[in-house]
Amino acid sequence: MTPSSSTTAVTPPDDCVMVIFGASGDLAKRLLLPAIHNLARNSALPNNFAIVGVAKDEFDSPGFRAQLVREIKEIESDPDPDYWKTAFDNGVHYLAGDFEDENTYQRLKACLDKIANERQMKSNCIFYLAVPPSLFGTIVEHLSRAELVKKDADGEQDAPWRRVIVEKPFGHDVESANALNRKLQGLLDESQIYRIDHYLGKETVQNILVFRFANGIFEPLWNRRYIDHVQITVSETVGVEHRGLYYDRAGALRDMVPNHIFQLLALIGMEAPASFHADAVRDEKAKLLRAIRPMAEADVRRNAVRGQYGAGSVNGNAVSTYRSAPHVSEDSMTETFVALRMFIDNWRWADVPFYIRTGKSMPKRLTEIAIQFRRAPFLPFRETAVEQMRPNQLVIRIQPNEGISLQFEAKRPGILVNTDSVDMDFCYDEYFGSNAFIGYETLLYDCMIGDPTLFQRADFVEAGWRAIEPILNVWGATTNEDFPNYAAGSWGPDEAGQLMSRDGRYWRTS
Ligand code: BG6
Repeated sequence: MTPSSSTTAVTPPDDCVMVIFGASGDLAKRLLLPAIHNLARNSALPNNFAIVGVAKDEFDSPGFRAQLVREIKEIESDPDPDYWKTAFDNGVHYLAGDFEDENTYQRLKACLDKIANERQMKSNCIFYLAVPPSLFGTIVEHLSRAELVKKDADGEQDAPWRRVIVEKPFGHDVESANALNRKLQGLLDESQIYRIDHYLGKETVQNILVFRFANGIFEPLWNRRYIDHVQITVSETVGVEHRGLYYDRAGALRDMVPNHIFQLLALIGMEAPASFHADAVRDEKAKLLRAIRPMAEADVRRNAVRGQYGAGSVNGNAVSTYRSAPHVSEDSMTETFVALRMFIDNWRWADVPFYIRTGKSMPKRLTEIAIQFRRAPFLPFRETAVEQMRPNQLVIRIQPNEGISLQFEAKRPGILVNTDSVDMDFCYDEYFGSNAFIGYETLLYDCMIGDPTLFQRADFVEAGWRAIEPILNVWGATTNEDFPNYAAGSWGPDEAGQLMSRDGRYWRTS
């Protein structure tokens, strides 16, 4: 992430090869290839760039190229039909191989040497692990044995750089995340590890930093003196779909909270970094997570709500119960909804509740952060017909309708002093026009230029798991007999509403 006050042109990164493990999978097709395509169209790829796809499927390079051309055409709404072919075709290679077989890595090494020779380029490489998490450690171990990656190689002058991008999920609890960190850090320097969280690729998420730290007017209010509470909602209309195998073991808490939601929480709550240097930003984010108040068992029972959707309807379409989805057990106790009431124990946020909720099969797709300010301390309108003053809310809409609005009270025209809540509204689309980026572009570009600001450092990952560990433990040890406890298309179980209403507060119902 390179901050600039104006529209600086993007400089192409160093020449490099991107090796995609799992190149024939869904992630590569839906996200990586379109992002690479968009980078190319924006002149943000290295002048010399090649792709090597590695997967089990029996393709050869021409077959793989033909498939990519087809996929790009399928995905892009208005592609220049020949663009991908002209820009990339001779730079796309494919290697069929088993990720657990030593030989695959020897062949990969030969392939990378050949590319570097033919193209007269330095052998800089990104290894993208678009594979199930059980393979992360195995692949990096093989890369290391084949000397395709070398710890600390980044520090050697003139040595080509080698970086590894790891997809989520990064572990499933503190212990497994730490074990994976230890394994990767034994083979690579932390500066070579890029743990992706696709939320950090979203423009609106990156804008939280700019909004907070490039403007003078909000920061003085950004603390317990002026903020009553913060609510973060990530609701999805989709259900578990075809992901039962993964999701039924993960659940909503693991799937969304220590990663995406804690990224939002950290950006909203962190102290101002001394600079936009990657470690300055990531230090502050990790500090914020470490300040989350630990929950004892009684706190979990009081401040954490879990739900599972039953049959219902979303946007007029009938939805069957979660338990009937493919690969989901008939008596599954996995939560598809979570609501939490959390506190951050530091000077800025002491006693300010942060309410968080996320769920599948909800009435609308919505990711937003609402900052509710304290009420005016004194109402000079007591003798007049003021019906009700609503507190000011600043709402950061991450998706859809990306933007920011500030809600305040205004006098309704007329003889009496009646007030209405009105909005000052900033809409990305209206202001900047729509953007075809899918979110992975910045992340790939940043990895190519060696800027890890928008990637998760090991300590952030660990602090995230640590903060939810008490909930995982209590929920893991008890079953929720009333599952399913919310109908698809509703805002979750009643207890989620009570989490706020017993504090005299309410979820936004926008
Ligand atoms: C993924 C989760 O990481 O994020 C999914 O595994 C979830 O379950 C998705 O649907 C949400 O991402 P987005 O960008 O659609 O908000």
